[in-house]
Amino acid sequence: MKQPATGLASAPTIGVFDSGFGGLTVLQALIARLPRARYAFLGDTARLPYGSKSRRTIARYAIESAQFLVREQGAEFLVIACNTASALALDAIQEAVPVPVLGVIEPGAQAARAASRCGDVLVIATDATVQSHAYAAACNARNLRALEKACPLLVPLVEEGWTGHPVTAEVIRIYLAELNAEATARNMNPDVLVLGCTHYPLLRPLIEAAVPPGVRVIDSAAAAAEAAVHLFNGRAAPAATLDPEASSNTAADTEIHCFATDSVEKFERLGSRFLGRPVGSVKLVDLGG
Ligand code: DGL
Repeated sequence: MKQPATGLASAPTIGVFDSGFGGLTVLQALIARLPRARYAFLGDTARLPYGSKSRRTIARYAIESAQFLVREQGAEFLVIACNTASALALDAIQEAVPVPVLGVIEPGAQAARAASRCGDVLVIATDATVQSHAYAAACNARNLRALEKACPLLVPLVEEGWTGHPVTAEVIRIYLAELNAEATARNMNPDVLVLGCTHYPLLRPLIEAAVPPGVRVIDSAAAAAEAAVHLFNGRAAPAATLDPEASSNTAADTEIHCFATDSVEKFERLGSRFLGRPVGSVKLVDLGG
């Protein structure tokens, strides 16, 4: 395993992977909770979107990305900051790498359970995530009824940086109106909407403006970061380096290394905005076709 040079001798390396920029919302939530770490983030931008592809292809891409983070970057933990890869390839990734792997679906469903009083929840996600019914299964296991809807136009709008654009607002309004109509037709009375794609937290203000009153918006990125704190502190890492309460933890303790398989300049331009801090210089990696 290649061990990259790091200024944080004792800090663990956490690998975070998404098909694009969206996973930076998970990275941001992770840094807020676990600042004293070295983060290696990979956006597989050359092969985005995953959400329109088959299970087999998504698993191949996700495994190659996970192996890059573990083998080339020395990641000791992996966070799959992509609902699509989590829904269709989590088991395959776990088998392919020798480190603990956390997906975002179970934490998202757990957060929905905690937030819902009536037990009916809505989930918006990519086509592949919806087709897998991973959220429906995770919600059903927690006695929740879930109605899932694919919103395939939202990822390209986020990747374009149109996170506050009127066109994006209108697309969201139409998707949510369709979803609500279907919920009504099924006699559901949802009080939670799960953002089942790590790109969607970047649209949160527009989504919150479009949901009916009384519906709470749940972000699987924040839920996954909470789960990571529990997972990592219970596993191999030295407790002191991962203690989210440690008073010595500061932003200066965080090291971030970003990698992309395409459009490095675009990643640098938009990534800092999505992460809420500079992403630094993004390195181009070639994972094959
Ligand atoms: N960010 C991915 C997710 O959470 C979706 C992007 C894609 O379709 O590749 O599902």
